[in-house]
Amino acid sequence: MQRMLTHMVIKMKKIEAIIKPGHLDGIRIALQEKGIIGMTVTEVQGRGQQKGISLQWRAGEYRVEFLEKLKLDLVVNDEDVEPAIAAIMSIAKTGKIGDGKIFIYPVEDVVRISTGERGKEAI
Ligand SMILES: Nc1ncnc2c1ncn2[C@@H]1O[C@H](COP(=O)(O)OP(=O)(O)OP(=O)(O)O)[C@@H](O)[C@H]1O
Ligand SMILES: [Mg+2]
Repeated sequence: MQRMLTHMVIKMKKIEAIIKPGHLDGIRIALQEKGIIGMTVTEVQGRGQQKGISLQWRAGEYRVEFLEKLKLDLVVNDEDVEPAIAAIMSIAKTGKIGDGKIFIYPVEDVVRISTGERGKEAI
């Protein structure tokens, strides 16, 4: 019963950040400075409002419909959500188009496989 209560009270979120590949190292360090260590990095292709990008080349103009991005997935306690967003933005925000996007989702539960810990303890 105690355990079930703990799971219901402690809320966690998944932060999914689409970033420029060159920003990964800085973001990793900025997150680590706030004690946020665990994350998953995936190479992705994406497009935003600019629908990819238009490039001038000798042969003329051509469009790249999807750009290379990285996706960071971090699951954090609710109290770490704003610090994590601030850390990501401190590096990723240049103020120009294409800086990326951050999506936030509720997380039901986490299982640390090596120990069987659940919820906050498992992050
Ligand atoms: N609505 C969306 N849904 C899912 N992924 C998105 C969405 N918008 C952007 N992305 C992802 O984020 C990446 C970066 O998007 P980008 O920063 O160019 O967004 P934007 O909306 O065009 O904003 P900006 O005008 O600042 O460029 C995209 O390549 C894509 O992977
Ligand atoms: Mg864009």
